[in-house]
Amino acid sequence: MDCIEAILGRRSCRSFKNQKVEQEKIITILKCGLYAPSPANKQPWEFIVVENPEYNEKLKAAVEHSKEKLVEKSGWAWIPKYKVDFITQAPVLIVVVGDPSKNGAEQFLEEPSQGFEHACSAAIQNMLLAAHSMELETLWLSLFEKVDARKIFKIDEDKEPIAIICLGYPEYVGQAPPRKSIESKVKFIK
Ligand SMILES: Cc1cc2nc3c(=O)[nH]c(=O)nc-3n(C[C@H](O)[C@H](O)[C@H](O)COP(=O)(O)O)c2cc1C
Repeated sequence: MDCIEAILGRRSCRSFKNQKVEQEKIITILKCGLYAPSPANKQPWEFIVVENPEYNEKLKAAVEHSKEKLVEKSGWAWIPKYKVDFITQAPVLIVVVGDPSKNGAEQFLEEPSQGFEHACSAAIQNMLLAAHSMELETLWLSLFEKVDARKIFKIDEDKEPIAIICLGYPEYVGQAPPRKSIESKVKFIK
């Protein structure tokens, strides 16, 4: 599968098969994460690979709790209908942990940005695309409180859980949600 095909074909998956993921595929995915760009090549990430359903159960409970709080705060009507069973279905979780002490030059600018978070996002996207190219699918999960993720996955206080990738063979993958047009999102300067 070429790169463009992988980018356009990848979909968020919220329904996984009960099928183990081969260890070689997991290692390839992690390697692709490690090859993401990062500020000053600081590589501000760590990946925790979880293949133990007890952790999925704990994570799901924490996410259900976050959902309840989100309903109160946001008032979004779709939240109660949003099912997170995919968390316990996914045979693999990859917890992406960022190190805030590993920013680059951008931290010293007048308007600093968090390079470590951007780099972790690049690593996540690399892993999603790698997974898709090997017939696997993923879900980029962010709907958890950091305090819960720290407790469940034993992450130190000075590190930040950035996202959790739910990984597995897809049972069902929906259509691509619509994207805005190039005209509405891109400004060309010549
Ligand atoms: C930073 C980020 C956080 C996300 N968090 C969640 C999440 O917590 N739960 C979820 O179901 N999807 C989550 N998603 C997936 C998006 O809903 C999804 O990417 C978007 O709807 C577009 O669909 P696609 O990935 O199939 O193209 C997240 C995506 C990103 C980039």
